[in-house]
Amino acid sequence: MPATVVVGAQWGDEGKGKVVDLLAERSDIVARYQGGNNAGHTIVAGDQVYKLHLIPSGILYPGTLCVIGNGVVVDPAVLCGELDDLEARGVSVEGLLLSANAHLIMPYHVLLDGASEKRLGRYSIGTTGRGIGPCYADKAHRVGIRAQDLLDPKILVAKLEVALEAKNEMLDKLYGLPRLEAGAIAEDLLGHAERLRPFITDTALIIDRALREDARVLFEGAQGTMLDIDHGTYPFVTSSNPIAGAACTGAGIGPTRIDRVLGVSKAYVTRVGEGPFPTEIEGPAAERICERGQEFGTTTGRQRRCGWLDLVALRYAVRLSGVTQLALTKLDVLSGFAALPVCVAYETREGERLDEFPFHQTVFHGARPVYEEHPGWDEDLGECRTLDDLPPRARAYVDMIAGAVGVPVTLIGTGQGRHQVIDQVEI
Ligand code: GDP
Ligand code: IMO
Ligand code: MG
Repeated sequence: MPATVVVGAQWGDEGKGKVVDLLAERSDIVARYQGGNNAGHTIVAGDQVYKLHLIPSGILYPGTLCVIGNGVVVDPAVLCGELDDLEARGVSVEGLLLSANAHLIMPYHVLLDGASEKRLGRYSIGTTGRGIGPCYADKAHRVGIRAQDLLDPKILVAKLEVALEAKNEMLDKLYGLPRLEAGAIAEDLLGHAERLRPFITDTALIIDRALREDARVLFEGAQGTMLDIDHGTYPFVTSSNPIAGAACTGAGIGPTRIDRVLGVSKAYVTRVGEGPFPTEIEGPAAERICERGQEFGTTTGRQRRCGWLDLVALRYAVRLSGVTQLALTKLDVLSGFAALPVCVAYETREGERLDEFPFHQTVFHGARPVYEEHPGWDEDLGECRTLDDLPPRARAYVDMIAGAVGVPVTLIGTGQGRHQVIDQVEI
């Protein structure tokens, strides 16, 4: 019963969408387990570009079931929009399932996300503004609205009224924003409910049954390890757990069901939003990476901050998710550099060398990278499909990474296109 978690090993945008799309062809189910439409997963199939925010990256294969798990937070309007877009492009969405336990992002979550960021001022997190944090907060506070509530209009309105009492106080008194009406929100929601009702079900049961029948299931992570609310660079993180363990709670399966964990890492690092980033670079090298890698956010269009590969953070990610194999994406972007610095350790403000990721954020904020330089290569990698096709220096760079993190690199990205990949993944 091969169950594989695909997890971001950096600060998100590692290329998970492309990897999941590739593996979805060989899978029966693809299930998202956390995050919401803060995610933006890109698939480039021929001349078609798909940017998926909520729908799992297996949707382009009609035979693959796509599950939005209970751990995902779902904006019903965004989901309906995404369904419409895909259908308008001729993609069947018949295989989609939505967990009845998934929490819904309400209009007040979006407003509160924006208002809270504004209030934080120079301490803001740089969120995607999609209401993710406030929705997960309500889930924990037990005043959330769930997908199953769409099936019972009476309960929906009652829950909305309770939630809105407190929310309106916040909107009005704390942020000086207009109050919202339960009736108007419910009307919009019930419109979306019509569209979403056929997809809502007990997805954990369906995944369990499939695993018992030896189906191949992929669990698609959103965001990445360094944005994990427990293990990332708190408070500059998202409000869920992207690490592989969260696939269990976020899809409703036991830890013994997971066989493999595929960590996805770029051959360098990017980060969107605020927060510490030791290997961040500026100037011509950063501009070159940004331009060649088209490093602009899939969800917000913001320019991504770029930096050299950070092996300390990558080892940390491998440890936290029990990564068994690595997908190294965007190796093609690094062609043309004479030398490639790679961070092998940090140095603290006091001059101490750290080989492990420090637990204290103050230490991490002050950490400077200790670099080793690797020889670069000039060749274009766009046509490489096997390890032997790689120029020796590019191959040495990959081998160095595998050696440093202690797991094999089974997939290498050599371009944006669906088939621009060296693929040795067995699932
Ligand atoms: P995700 O959030 O992890 O799914 O990643 P995004 O889709 O937000 O960002 C990754 C970007 O890199 C997308 O535009 C992908 O099309 C692109 N990409 C993925 N793999 C490769 C690769 O190997 N080479 C290049 N040049 N682009 C890639
Ligand atoms: P994918 O799945 C990159 C970042 C935001 C911000 C922080 C908190 O495409 O890899 P949030 O809106 O979640 O409260 O914002 O997390 N962030 C991402 N960065 N990729 C993502 O998703 C992200 N989702 C959230 O930029 O710094
Ligand atoms: Mg993304």
